[in-house]
Amino acid sequence: KTVYLKDYRPTDFIIETVDLIFELGAEMTTVGSEIRLSRRPGSPADAPLTLDGDSLELAGLALDGKPLAPERYEAAADGLTVHGLPESGSFTLTVKTRINPSANTQLLGLYRTSGLFSTQCEAEGFRRITYFYDRPDVLAVYTVTIIADKESCPLLLSNGNLIEERNLEDGRHMAKWHDPFPKPSYLFALVAGDLAMIEDQFTTMSGRAVTLRIYVEHGKADRADYAMDSLKRAMRWDEERFGREYDLDIFMIVAVSDFNMGAMENKGLNIFNDRLILADPETATDDDYLRIEAVVAHEYFHNWTGNRITCRDWFQLSLKEGLTVYREHEFTADQRTRPVVRVDEVKFLRANQFPEDGGPLAHPVRPTQYLEIDNFYTTTVYEKGSEVSRMIATLLGTDNFRRGLDLFFERHDGGAVTIEDYLKCFEDATGRDLSHFALWYHQAGTPVISVQSAYDEAASTLSLTLQQKTPPTPGQKEKKPLHIPLRVGLIGPNGDGMEPSAVSGGERTEDVLHLTEAEQTFVFKGIGARPAISVNRDFSAPVKVNFEQSRDDRMAIARFETDLVARWDAINGLALQALVEATAAVRAGTPISVDPALAEALIETAGDETLEPAFRALALTLPSELDIGRELGRDIDPDAIHAARRTVFGSLAREGAERFRQLVDALSGDTEFSPNADSAGRRALRNTALAYLASATDEPGAARAAYDAATNMTDMIAALRILAHQFPDAEETAAVLDDFRHRFAGEPLVLDKWFGAQATIPGEEALERVKRLMQDEAFDALNPNRVRALVGAFASSNPTGFNRPDGAGYRFFADFILDADKRNPTLTARLMTVMRSFEALEVGRQAKARTELERIAGHETLSRNLRDIIDRMLKS
Ligand code: ARG
Ligand code: ZN
Repeated sequence: KTVYLKDYRPTDFIIETVDLIFELGAEMTTVGSEIRLSRRPGSPADAPLTLDGDSLELAGLALDGKPLAPERYEAAADGLTVHGLPESGSFTLTVKTRINPSANTQLLGLYRTSGLFSTQCEAEGFRRITYFYDRPDVLAVYTVTIIADKESCPLLLSNGNLIEERNLEDGRHMAKWHDPFPKPSYLFALVAGDLAMIEDQFTTMSGRAVTLRIYVEHGKADRADYAMDSLKRAMRWDEERFGREYDLDIFMIVAVSDFNMGAMENKGLNIFNDRLILADPETATDDDYLRIEAVVAHEYFHNWTGNRITCRDWFQLSLKEGLTVYREHEFTADQRTRPVVRVDEVKFLRANQFPEDGGPLAHPVRPTQYLEIDNFYTTTVYEKGSEVSRMIATLLGTDNFRRGLDLFFERHDGGAVTIEDYLKCFEDATGRDLSHFALWYHQAGTPVISVQSAYDEAASTLSLTLQQKTPPTPGQKEKKPLHIPLRVGLIGPNGDGMEPSAVSGGERTEDVLHLTEAEQTFVFKGIGARPAISVNRDFSAPVKVNFEQSRDDRMAIARFETDLVARWDAINGLALQALVEATAAVRAGTPISVDPALAEALIETAGDETLEPAFRALALTLPSELDIGRELGRDIDPDAIHAARRTVFGSLAREGAERFRQLVDALSGDTEFSPNADSAGRRALRNTALAYLASATDEPGAARAAYDAATNMTDMIAALRILAHQFPDAEETAAVLDDFRHRFAGEPLVLDKWFGAQATIPGEEALERVKRLMQDEAFDALNPNRVRALVGAFASSNPTGFNRPDGAGYRFFADFILDADKRNPTLTARLMTVMRSFEALEVGRQAKARTELERIAGHETLSRNLRDIIDRMLKS
C-alpha cells in the first residue's frame, strides 16, 4: 500500500471536462458524473481506465450514453476499472454513485453536520464522492449542478461562476456553477444549506470588479468583518508584492463548525474552520485575530501557489504549502511588526517542527514515500518548507527572488509541477546554481551548527569556525553538508555594530555567511576589539546553534543587538539556561538560585520604552515547561521542570514586582478595542506583567479584578488563565470559571478557551478534571475543535497532568484515541503525534507510555492513518 515517488507515471487517459449533478439528500445523495475522456497519446491501446474510489457504491455506468455490460467493468468500494475503451478520440463516461453525507463522521468527502452540506477533498476526499482520477496532476474543467430542497438549503455553492439558478418541482431548486480554470479534484468544493452572508467588493489592479462573500451561521454575520478586511488586504498585498491578481468574478469563503483542519483553498470557494473566520472583541482574542488574518491570506494566496500552479503528485506538497506559508509569513510581517512576527515563527518552529524533525516521524520536506498522505500535512512540509523558500530569498536577495517567482508563474501557469521545476525557475532567472541548496528538500533532520571563535588582537582578526552536522533520521543514516545561509553580526565593546574590512574563508553576502562544507573557517579582518558574535540573526536558517558563549557576550547581544530576533533569542536563551539549571537543582535537591543579572535584564527590557510592547512581552515570557523539556531532550521529569519553573517565575516576579505593577497600571487604560498589532502588543505586555504580579503577591485578587474589569476576550481569558493556573483551588477561580461558562453558554468557540484553560491546569488532578469536562454538555467528541480544545490541550500542553507518574494520563488518552479512530481517523492520527517524543521521558514514564502505545498498535482494526503514525512512532 506504500506509495513511492519513483513510481510516478501519468494517467493512461486524459480528463477534459467533468459535469457533476448532485441531488442532495441528508441520508442519500446521488452523484452523477459525466466525464469527457480521451486516451493519452502514447499510452497502450488496451490499457483499462482505473479510477479511484473510497467507500463508494456504483449505481450506474454508461459509455457515450449506453449502459455498460457488467463484463466491461469491475466496481469495488475502492475503485472502478473499465475495459475496452476507444483507442482514439474522445468519449463520455457517465458514473452514478450514492453516498450518505450524514454518516460521514470522517469529515472527508461530502458530509453533513448541523444541517449544512460541505466538502473537504484534499488530499483524497473526492474519491469518497465519485469514482475519479483523484490525483493532483489530472486537471479538468468542472461544471456542477446542485439540486436540493429549497427550504432547508436555500444556498447552493460550488467553484467558479454561477451560470444558472431556478426552482424545480416539489419545493426543490437547482444551481449550476462553472469553473473555467482546469483544476485537480482536490480543489473541488460544494456547500449547501442555510447561512448568513456579508458581501464586499474588490477592484483588482487591472480594474476588474470582484464580489467578495463570506458565509457564516445565522446570527454571526457581524463577526465576519475582520476576515473580510483581512481578505481585501491580502488581495491588495499579493498584487503589490508579487504581481498576482485574482481571476474570477467572485470569491467566496464559507465558515463551517465541523472541520478537520484550519481551512481549504478550493478554487473560488474557500472553506474554513469557523474559528478562523469569526471574531469580535468580546469573543475572540488578539491571537485569534492574528490567526484569522494569516489563514485568510494563506488560503487566498493559494489561488496562485497551489491552484493556478498545482502539484504533480503529493510528494510535491511543500511546493504549494511551503511557498504559501512563506507568502503568508511575509504578508503578516508587512501587516504587523516584522521582528515580532518572526519571533513567533521561530517559537513555533522550535516547538513543533524541530521535535518532529528529531523524532520518529521525521521526514524530508519532500518525502519519497508515504502510506497515508493525510499524515504528511506536517510542520516539516509547511513550516520548514517555508523556511527553505525564505532561505532562497536570503541567498538570492529579494529582487532576484521575485524575478524567479515571476518566471515560475509565467512558465508553469496551468501546470502540475515539481519542486525541481520550482528551483529551476530561480536558477534560470538568476544564473545561480541551486543544486547543492536543493538538498534541504531531501534531507530530514535539523542541522546543528557548532561555533568556535578566536580573536587575534595583534592582527585585528576574528576567526569563526563553523561545523555543521545533521543527526540521522529514520531511513537516512548518513547526512551531507547543506548550503546554509547564516546571518552573523558583530557587536563591539561599546554596544555598536562592527563591520569587517574583509572576510575570507567562504562566500559572504550582506551579513550572510554561506556555510557549504562540513567545517569552514571564516576570518573577519579589521576587527579592532573582541566583539560579541551574534549567530543566525533573523533566524536566517532553521538550525540549532551550539555556541559556548560567555554570559557577558550573551548579555551584550541581549542588550545591544539591532536585529531584534537575535536579541530576543539571546534573552530567551539565558532564561532557558537558568531554567535548565534550576531543573537540575530540583532533581538534585539543592536550592535554586536565579542569576540576578538575568532578572535585571528581563525586568529592564520589560520597562524599556524604546522597545515596542509586543517585543517586551515576548522577552518577558519565560520558556514554557515544554520548551525546557525539549531543551533537555532526554530523561525528562515534568514534575521537576514544573517546580523549577514555578520557583524561577516566582523569584522574577518578586524581584520585578514594582515594575510589573507599574506596567499593569499604565497599560490598563485602553478602552476602545482595536485588533491592530500595537494594541494587541500592549495587552500582551500588560497580561504578562499581570501574571508575574499575581505570583509576586501570591493572591488572586488582582487577576479577579482584571477579569471583572475586562472589556474584551483577550483580557478576560488572560485573567481566567492566571486564576486557573496559579490559584486552581481559590474561590475566585471557581467563581470566574462558573461565570464564564454561563456567560458564553451558546458559544462553542468561546467555551473552547474555557476547556483549554482548565485542561492545562498543572498537576495530578488534571485527568479527573478533563474527564469531568468531557461530561459537560458543551463538549462534543465528534467535533474536532472541541476535541482539540480539551483532549488535545491536555495531552499536548499539560506536561505534569498528562504525564502523571502512574500512567493514567496515557491510558485515558489511548482509550480516547481508540474510540475516536472509528469515527475520524484524520483527527486521531494527528492527535496521536503529541506523544511522538515519549522516548525523551524519564524511564518510568517512558515505559508506561510505551505500554499504552503498544496497546494501541496491537489493535487490528486501526485506521490506516493511525496505523501509519503509531507504527512509525514505535519503530525507531
Ligand atoms: N490545503 C490546506 C491548507 O493548508 C490544508 C488541507 C489539509 N488537508 C489534509 N488532508 N490534511 O491550506
Ligand atoms: Zn495551505
